Amino acid sequence: MPASTSSTAAAPLERERVCVDCGCAFTGLLGLCGDCAQARLDRANEGRHLAEQKVRQEKWRALCPPLYQDTDWTHGGLGRGLAELVQRWQPGQGGRSSLLLTGPTGLGKTRAAFALLRRVHESGRSVHALHAGDAWDHGPHIQGLSSAVRLQYSDDPHRSQAALHCLQRARTCSLLLLDDVGKERASPTAGQLSEAVGEALFALIEHRLVHRLVHRLPMILTTNAPGTTLQARLGPDRGAPLIRRLMEACEVVGV
Ligand SMILES: Nc1ncnc2c1ncn2[C@@H]1O[C@H](COP(=O)(O)OP(=O)(O)OP(=O)(O)O)[C@@H](O)[C@H]1O
Ligand SMILES: [Mg+2]
Ligand SMILES: [Zn+2]
Repeated sequence: MPASTSSTAAAPLERERVCVDCGCAFTGLLGLCGDCAQARLDRANEGRHLAEQKVRQEKWRALCPPLYQDTDWTHGGLGRGLAELVQRWQPGQGGRSSLLLTGPTGLGKTRAAFALLRRVHESGRSVHALHAGDAWDHGPHIQGLSSAVRLQYSDDPHRSQAALHCLQRARTCSLLLLDDVGKERASPTAGQLSEAVGEALFALIEHRLVHRLVHRLPMILTTNAPGTTLQARLGPDRGAPLIRRLMEACEVVGV
C-alpha cells in the first residue's frame, strides 16, 4: 500500500446547523440556510442599487438647471414633433450619430436636449452639459464653455481646477449637450467669438465628432441662430468648416 501523505482526513465542513436568520435546521457550510443567504444577498444588492440611484439623482440635480428638470410634454408652448423626438432619438457612434436642434427661441430645444441626456445618464453612461456662454454658472460652479475657457487660467486654483475638469468632461463623456451654440462669449470688437472660445469650440467638436471616426462621441447641440448668423459668429476661418462638420455628424432637427 502506498504510504499515506496525510494521516488526518479533512473534517467534514458541511454539517447540520441551525440558520441564524430563520431558525430552520439545514446542512451546510455557513450559518445561513440557502434561502436566507439568498435573501441577504438580494437585500445587499438592492441597497447598492438604491445607493447608486441616489448618487445618479444627485449628479443629475447638479448637472441639469432647475428650470429644465421637469418638462410636461403636453405643454402647448413646445414645438411640434419634439415629444416624438424625445421618445425616438438615441445617440449613435458613427454617421449622423449626433443631434442638432435648431429653431426660434422658446420652443423647448433645451428641454428636449436635457430629457434625452437624462435617459443616457439614467442608463449609467457618463454625460455632461455645457452652456456655450456662461448662463448655467453659479457661484463656484462652472458649466459654460466660454467661462471654462476663461477660468482655466484663473489665479484661484479651485476655479482653474473646476474649469479644467469641466472641459475634460466635455471632451470625454459618452454624450455631451452643448446648449445655445452661437451664444459663446464674443470678442470685444467684431460680433464674433473670442479667439480662445472659438478655438476651444472647434477643438471640442473636432475631437468628439471628427477624430474619432469609428467611435464618435455623440453630442446634442442646440441653437436658435440661423445657419448664416451662426457661420458669421464663428468667424471667417472656422465658420464654414465647423458648420460642415456639424452637418456631416448630426441629424438636424428644426423645431
Ligand atoms: N413645465 C413646463 N413643461 C413644458 N414646457 C414648459 C414648461 N414651462 C415652460 N415651458 C415651455 O418651455 C419653453 C422654453 O423651453 P426651452 O428653454 O427649452 O426653449 P428653447 O427652444 O431652448 O429656447 P432658446 O432658443 O431661447 O434657448 C417656454 O417657452 C414654455 O413654452
Ligand atoms: Mg435653449
Ligand atoms: Zn434561513
